[in-house]
Formats: sequence, C-alpha cells, structure tokens
Amino acid sequence: MHTQVGIIGAGPAGLLLARLLHLQGISSVILESRSRDYVENRVRAGLLEQGSVDLMIESGVGERLQRECMAHDGVEFIFEGKRRRINMQELIGRRVYIYGQQEAVKDMIAVNLAAGVPIIFEAEGKEIGGLDTAKPFIRYVANGREETLTCDYIAGCDGFHGICRDAIPTELLRGHDRVYPFGWLGILAEAAPTHHELLYVHNPRGFALFTMRSNSVSRCYLQVPPEEDADNWSDDQIWSELDRRLGQHEGFKLSTGRIFQKSVTPMRSYVAEPMRHERLFIAGDAAHIVPPTGAKGMNLAIADIYVLAKAFTAFYKRNDTSLFDRYEQICLKRIWRAQHFSWWMTSMLHIMPDASPFDLKRQIAELETVTGSVAGQTLVAENYAGLPFEL
Ligand code: APR
Ligand code: PHB
Repeated sequence: MHTQVGIIGAGPAGLLLARLLHLQGISSVILESRSRDYVENRVRAGLLEQGSVDLMIESGVGERLQRECMAHDGVEFIFEGKRRRINMQELIGRRVYIYGQQEAVKDMIAVNLAAGVPIIFEAEGKEIGGLDTAKPFIRYVANGREETLTCDYIAGCDGFHGICRDAIPTELLRGHDRVYPFGWLGILAEAAPTHHELLYVHNPRGFALFTMRSNSVSRCYLQVPPEEDADNWSDDQIWSELDRRLGQHEGFKLSTGRIFQKSVTPMRSYVAEPMRHERLFIAGDAAHIVPPTGAKGMNLAIADIYVLAKAFTAFYKRNDTSLFDRYEQICLKRIWRAQHFSWWMTSMLHIMPDASPFDLKRQIAELETVTGSVAGQTLVAENYAGLPFEL
C-alpha cells in the first residue's frame, strides 16, 4: 500500500491532519494501534481554544461541536476564601469552549471515514524507516500479520508513548523534561456543574479544578500524589475532599452525584527537538506534553497540525518546501509559550510536597497580583484563550 502522507495515530493530531490533507486533495492513511471503540471512549481533557474551534468548524468537523459545546466567557480563580473572575470575552474578545476530547475524536473519525480517508484500527506501527529516501515506510502489524505502508512523508501523531520520536537519531534528539511531584485524580460524575464556568482552586490541602462536560455531567480534578491509585478513593472521600478544597463561597454549593469514571494522570512538561527529521514530522503529544493546568494539550496538537497541513499543501500544490523547513521553528515558538503558561499556572496553583508557609503566602500574593489588575487578568486571558495560529 502506498499513500502520500502516512499518519501514525488517530488522536486529535492525526485525525485533523488527515482531514485537512483530504480537503486539499492530498492522500493519507492513518494507522492506529487501538480499536475504534477504545479511542472514541478514552477520557481526556476537554477545553478548546477559540482558534481550535474555528479551525475545526472551517475544516468541516465542527458541526456537532457547534451544537453541543459550552462556550465560556470567563474563568474563576479561588484562593484564601476569595473568588476572582477573569472575563476573557470582555478583555480580549475571545472565549474558550468545553467539549470532551473523545467527542472531537468521534466527530473527526466519522467525517474522515465518510470521506473515504482510510483509518486502519488495531494496526500497530512497529518500525519506520527510509526517512532519507524518496519512499519512507511504516511496518505495522494488523490482524496478526506484518504489513508495510510506503509513503512520501510520515506524520508521527502517535502520542507520547509512540514510536516516531524515537526514530530521530539519538545524537540529534534533545528532550527537555520536567516531572511534577503530583498528579490529578480526575472524575466524571452524574452531577450538574457546581458552577457554570471553570473554577481553579488554590488550597493548602492541594489544588482542585471544577469543570464539566454538559449541564448534567461534572468533571472534577484533585491534586494527589503522582503514584496514587484512584481505587483508594471512595466516592464519598472524593466529594468531601472537593468540598473542603472548594471551601465556603457565596453563590455556589458543591453539586454531587454518581461517579462513573475516575483515574489518576501524572503531570509532566516535555518538549522534543527537533520535530522534523528528513521525511518524518512529529506533532502533538509525540513532540510535547504539558501539565493540564493550562488546558493546552489538545490545542497545541491542533496548532501543530495547522502548520503541518499548510506545509504539505505548499509542497504538493506549489512544490514549495519552505514551510517544511520552518515547521519546527513556527511550532516551537508557540509550544514554548504554552509550556511556560502551563508551568506557571501549575506552579501558582499546586502545593509542592515540601511547601513552606512562605511558599503558600507567595502563591497567594501571586494570585492577587495576577487577578487584581487588568494587566494581570489580560495576561491570563490571552494565554488561556490561546495565542493566534500563525505561520
Ligand atoms: N502505532 C499506531 N498507533 C499508535 C502507536 C503505534 N505504534 N503508538 C501510539 N499510537 C496511537 C495511540 O493509540 C493514540 O490513539 O496514537 C494516538 C495518539 O493520540 P493522542 O495520544 O491523543 O495524541 P495527539 O493526537 O497528539 O493529541 C494530543 O491528547 O493526551 C492528550 O493532552 C493530550 O489533549 C492532548 C492530545
Ligand atoms: C477539562 O474540562 O477536562 C479540563 C479543563 C481545563 C483544564 C484541564 C481539564 O485546565
């Protein structure tokens, strides 16, 4: 089998790339190691920036998104008994949107398959090669048989644990890494949202986040030790810890209900350089990871793909390779700014295991500074609602 762009991974990155290429008449094949059912039901984060939503709508994968997403003009920070709202819409004229990543994945799978873009599920990429030749290849195993896909270029959209990043020679690959001494226990519950916008809570007991998936489903997170087992937490313990961290505030009361999903995610920051090697391009989680506090993971993947799709279009339509050469430079600028924002939000809101009273007071002062002036609020709003997609 031969295609123009061989894509490994049917996450947001691979699926959006296939869609954007199809719209330009460029052929691709997606190889995905998991089943369709698995990727469509894998619970992940769910906040989309304005730019991500606009791109999804423009590329014809935003129909259900437009109907079902929840648009938020503002976001709240809670610390030391105070509530501070940042009104993004008023400050910068942009908003954020709540839509579960797996819903976006479902939509993109359906649109790609309907358009005839091949997605081969349960096809595990084992090896890529020929990157410095005109005909790179992907060896994969499907139905117990070894197969080969040849292509002009390979897009490594295979997430943090994929095989593509490791195909960059070790002497060239640099990984910039930070592992945090905590994780997030995330739950989904049959409970109306505690508040109609997101609440980021600083509390000496640990960080908490109140978000949602719909008017009847809450998504909440608690800072926990990184090795914590979600099964150690009963529903009652989770609700009572969320309640204690939220504290008493006028205007809202914790909304509880049956918890139907819970898991612990470790937190790390990671950037791989380079993002291109010969005829391989890596994008999304394959190239970088952010802690979820800034809600940037899916949005960064989408921003990489915006650039990569333009680069393939310039090459196949105009034989112009200049964007191939600039791909990494364009992406890394935005990635490092998102890395900074995600690290900053994380460090401002989480309690380090060895935090001293000084550290807690300093965090409170920082939250006061940031939420207490238009300048500080604007800084958060611009980064949270997302930097522009640029070439
Ligand atoms: N062969 C085929 N598929 C693979 C292989 C392999 N060897 N290794 C990994 N995959 C698949 C995974 O099963 C997964 O479906 O690649 C896909 C990668 O998708 P994501 O992990 O969702 O990564 P990406 O598309 O970059 O999206 C980034 O996902 O983890 C979140 O916070 C992150 O929201 C961000 C988003
Ligand atoms: C989510 O809705 O899952 C979500 C929202 C904002 C974040 C992280 C996760 O910062």
